[in-house]
Amino acid sequence: MTGITDLAAWHELAAHHADLEGTSTRDLFDEDPDRFRDFSLEAAGLFLDYSKNRLTRETVKRLLDFARDSGVEVMRERMFTGERINTTEDRAVLHVALRNRANRPIHVDGEDVMPAVNDVLARMRRFSERVRSGDWTGHTGRPITDVVNIGIGGSDLGPAMVVRALDPYTRADLRPHFVSNVDGTHLAEVLRRVDPETTLFIVASKTFTTQETLTNAHSARAWLVDRLGDEAAVARHFVAVSTNAEKVRDFGIDTDHMFEFWDWVGGRFSLWSAIGLPIAVAVGMDNFEALLAGAHEMDEHFRTADMGANMPVLLALVGFWNIMFEGAGAHAVLPYDQMLERLPAYLQQAEMESNGKRTTRDGTLVTWPTAPVLFGEPGTNGQHAFYQLIHQGTRLVACDFLAPAQSHNPLGDHHEKLLANVIAQTKALMRGRSESQARAELEGEGHDAAGVARLVQHKTFPGDRPTNTILFRKLDPHTLGALIALYEHRIFVQGVLWRVNSFDQWGVELGKQLARPILGELKGDREPDPDDDASTRGLVAVLKRWREGGDDG
Ligand code: F6P
Repeated sequence: MTGITDLAAWHELAAHHADLEGTSTRDLFDEDPDRFRDFSLEAAGLFLDYSKNRLTRETVKRLLDFARDSGVEVMRERMFTGERINTTEDRAVLHVALRNRANRPIHVDGEDVMPAVNDVLARMRRFSERVRSGDWTGHTGRPITDVVNIGIGGSDLGPAMVVRALDPYTRADLRPHFVSNVDGTHLAEVLRRVDPETTLFIVASKTFTTQETLTNAHSARAWLVDRLGDEAAVARHFVAVSTNAEKVRDFGIDTDHMFEFWDWVGGRFSLWSAIGLPIAVAVGMDNFEALLAGAHEMDEHFRTADMGANMPVLLALVGFWNIMFEGAGAHAVLPYDQMLERLPAYLQQAEMESNGKRTTRDGTLVTWPTAPVLFGEPGTNGQHAFYQLIHQGTRLVACDFLAPAQSHNPLGDHHEKLLANVIAQTKALMRGRSESQARAELEGEGHDAAGVARLVQHKTFPGDRPTNTILFRKLDPHTLGALIALYEHRIFVQGVLWRVNSFDQWGVELGKQLARPILGELKGDREPDPDDDASTRGLVAVLKRWREGGDDG
């Protein structure tokens, strides 16, 4: 595989970046009346403005050359046609098949996956409609009022984010809950609020071996059997979503009540599969299918639009530019929509588990930065928390601002105020405030020369903080699907540019492995490992002493 620095296009980009030295984004706007028009585009109901990044037409052209020479189009084709591009796990990567509403055949090892995809969707429809209509009842014959999804990572974050985002489409008499953390508090707090007779548990785990999920599922099952006094109740109150029928059976869930998906669906890309069952139950299957349709529209755009007019490609390239040349080490996702409050958490896994890598697809170590640290909060809360660092700190944070033109909850002038803040923040981050402007402002406020000198640097903003603005009409299921797919494809393109495999996650394994013997030590089943470092031994000892109620002595 050609390394980044082996490509002529890379060196041309680097030379071009040096030529931009001393040019500010503000200069670029002043020089170019068409900048907004030419650095924005619309696709699948989303509008992207990327003009407030420090780049020019030539930058975009050179980035596109670099993307082509890096094989973005070839890899995209390989993904959409079911090749095993997840090479370290020898798997295809086909979340796009799950929302392939055109039903175009997609083959894995010569077999079209679409009949199986459609079959599971049909089962999800039947089941969700039964729960929603009250036809599916609990063990004592009462309809379901609470649905508890037990899963973690990709088996939690996607459905939890979507159910929150589609809150206006949910029903007050069918309450969704999500339990992920192995901290018993998480489960206990939900169980305290639900009635065992009317609660349905969805145990969601691709592998059905994940410690947290299995622990929570066993505890939930024990609670249910204890409260209803009958082991047989499990059949009416537990269903599973998994690729592992054998483990589901071992747990005691009849595989008739299991919704299947496949190894070519990555955990963090799985909300479109049966992992979306809690979404279908919460908002109805028609809305779940509208979510799929929105994602499919973005997939088609990504697959067919010219690279230079391709929203995920451009978003990826702008991010790549900011990280590789401008020095951005962090990426803030800032949804100005309260219902997208879980989007940053969802994208943390999507982005950092996918591209938080240091090894190329060839198995050599990278010599360039890869995924940024991703974080975020809904606006305007973030403004009163961490935006200070983004405006005036010493680290460059690239930002995505997201906002709906219309609110689901129109209330006085709240929404106009919210939107005004979005635009003002991107303007402030781009333009900043020069020292002379700050000085003039202070003088206008009546400060004497000493006061001006004391405050002027504190009031100066460097500007040139790169931002994208993503607008949509209203947060409906279709739009949300398109938005999530946009981010998925941005992650895919950046993975190709960085030469990493975006679809494995070996980095999460070591901690899991090391937890096993430590668990044994905490439970007293095994002696402390004398070869362990002093901190590990010391922390285990303190916890054991304190758990046994001992003093510090
Ligand atoms: O944290 C690692 C991971 O494998 C994620 O990639 C995945 O989403 C999560 O654990 C849950 O896995 P499972 O669905 O198999 O329980």
